[in-house]
Amino acid sequence: MRSALNALTDELRRLKNTGVKTVAVSDEAVAALRRVVTARAAGGQRPRRAVAPAASKPVSSPAQVRPSVAIVRDPLPAATLPAAPVVALPEGDKAARWAALRELVLNDATCRANVRAGKKVVLGVGSLDAKIMFVGEAPGAEEEIQGEPFVGPAGQLLTKMIQGMGLKRGEVYIGNIMNWRPQMPAAAGVEQVGNRPPTEQEMRYCLPYLRAQIDVVNPEMIVALGATAAQGLLGFGSFKALGDIRGAWREFAGKPLMVTYHPSYILRSMSNRSKRMIWEDLLKVMARAGLPISEKQRGYFLER
Ligand code: URA
Repeated sequence: MRSALNALTDELRRLKNTGVKTVAVSDEAVAALRRVVTARAAGGQRPRRAVAPAASKPVSSPAQVRPSVAIVRDPLPAATLPAAPVVALPEGDKAARWAALRELVLNDATCRANVRAGKKVVLGVGSLDAKIMFVGEAPGAEEEIQGEPFVGPAGQLLTKMIQGMGLKRGEVYIGNIMNWRPQMPAAAGVEQVGNRPPTEQEMRYCLPYLRAQIDVVNPEMIVALGATAAQGLLGFGSFKALGDIRGAWREFAGKPLMVTYHPSYILRSMSNRSKRMIWEDLLKVMARAGLPISEKQRGYFLER
């Protein structure tokens, strides 16, 4: 175990010495490494299961985790995107307007040019009468395959959070700032591993499509998931740390906006404390939306 960790550290040091500044690590890899480190801190025992997510194959050492670590050797040069689209939807009911928007987005040449062959442009999904709209940052690997936001590990957790609020996934609307998965270099024919946050320019390009979704759905409130989504909505440089702005109502597109942590933060930390922080923000959302809150719900993730 120690030699595998040493090998990983040596490799990272070597990359640093060759000028590599950024190493993107998948959520699964971080979670697996965290379990190894936690187990060692708890008594140096070999963890029984230093594994990636439950359904996937057991990973017995960090050396085996390494393939899911993507090294960003040459971050893509800031691609020059055209001016952000001006979205004009036809008159009509919500369904017709949303269908028109979907056509626009799926056929947007810039969106399509930023999606790798065989992958999909992604638009939000959910109830067009939703009171609550969740907004994440960008599609990931699963999302660009299925063409739907939040269907990977973070999405499954988001679905559980929504259910914890007493709602079904289909009763809310779930979108992202981005309509494509931000690309990272990968050799031809090799799947992109890991994700990078979208650039300000990329978010600025896609934002009109998110605004149009807000316009069509007309939710009573918006929940931004994570710092990147919050930056996209509130503006870059508008806050220092997510902890400074989460949990308090703000405004976006004339709607009350609650900023909270991204579900992948919970996947990384797995602590009741982080779950409780998100939950407290969601309790505020429930209260504002007039959803019933039971005593049991009120006490979720409180340390005993
Ligand atoms: N993370 C996001 O922000 N959006 C998704 O759709 C999936 C993961």
